[in-house]
Amino acid sequence: MAPAATASLPTAPHNLGPISRELFPDGLKTTGQHAPLYDHILPFEKFPKQITGPTVWKAEEYRDHPEKWTHTFTEEQIAELSTAADKFLASKTPLTGIEKSNFELPTLAAYLRDLRADLIDGKGFILFKGFPVQKWGNHKSAVAYMGLGTYLGYFVSQNSRGHVLGHVKDLGEDSTQIDKVRIYRTNARQYFHADDSDIVGLLCIAKALEGGESDLVSSHHVYNVLAAERPDVLKTLTEPIWYFDRKGETSKGQEEYIRTSVIYLERGENGRVYTKWDPYYVRSLTRFSDAGIIPALSEAQEEALRVLEETCVRHSLHMVLDIGDIQFLSNAHILHARTAYRDHAPPAPRRHLMRLWLATPESEGGWKLPFWDSNEKKRGGIQVDDQVPVAPIDAE
Ligand SMILES: [Fe+2]
Repeated sequence: MAPAATASLPTAPHNLGPISRELFPDGLKTTGQHAPLYDHILPFEKFPKQITGPTVWKAEEYRDHPEKWTHTFTEEQIAELSTAADKFLASKTPLTGIEKSNFELPTLAAYLRDLRADLIDGKGFILFKGFPVQKWGNHKSAVAYMGLGTYLGYFVSQNSRGHVLGHVKDLGEDSTQIDKVRIYRTNARQYFHADDSDIVGLLCIAKALEGGESDLVSSHHVYNVLAAERPDVLKTLTEPIWYFDRKGETSKGQEEYIRTSVIYLERGENGRVYTKWDPYYVRSLTRFSDAGIIPALSEAQEEALRVLEETCVRHSLHMVLDIGDIQFLSNAHILHARTAYRDHAPPAPRRHLMRLWLATPESEGGWKLPFWDSNEKKRGGIQVDDQVPVAPIDAE
């Protein structure tokens, strides 16, 4: 049971209920989505006038320089991943039990430590190339990918079904039913947003016929642009007046929405600016606002929505994921989007990305978030009641 949302400082570990190793093989449970600690939501006056440092970047710096953000796996690195994956498969450990100790990477580990730091505190993204998904097939690829991920963060559940290996694929669900349907299960456009985890990874297994391309932007650069052009919008985004839909993925006793801000400050001195945003989740609540249960979006909020998206589009870096590419990015200071897409006609495979949501707790270098679970290993994600983690090899 989570402590009251008004408790002052996050502590850890919390009692997250009984966690049996049989059901939670790594002994860890995702904490899920919660309201912020409202006494740590600070007024706009406390926010920086401008953000500086390595998290602020412009698309122009990177657009014609993919070598600055792309890493092609070397033969030695692939061999190391392959050996670790084969050993893990031979051990018959469930995929939900993968951790650094049973997926050893003697030389890659140091490289991944530096990458993790760059994701959390630096430019916040990377594109890997050359992951041999076709040679390895989906099962071994999933093992190697999740194993790699354990060096960047703790995998968390991504939905009410406990998926810790997500599958971004068009399952034919109706993207206009935004109060029920998660857009990653459709072929619709995704506006600029952050996922509900510290880091998100996408491994491309199959591409669409057209579209499904990726855009990302430094939310710290967007912040600076808005501070100069539209401080009124920025102020609206810092106010805890935004209701986010849970889309029914709630534990017993929880509300169907969370009231919070879009832009936060980290706790403590000189806290960095943290963004948690997805317009689909604030637009889908008309079933409550029409009934007078929560306020409808104000004019100022509608304007903030429009200006934020438009500013992200204007400053974004475009990226295409080919088969065997892996994109990792920070959700703390990067916003990402994708274009709508159209799949090949059957029997060709549909666009398929394997997704990882990874958590980086405070005690291991993660951001000091204004949430009670900030120092839990598996902070964030989506956890409904005692749902156990599962890692299906394909969408379900
Ligand atoms: Fe996303």
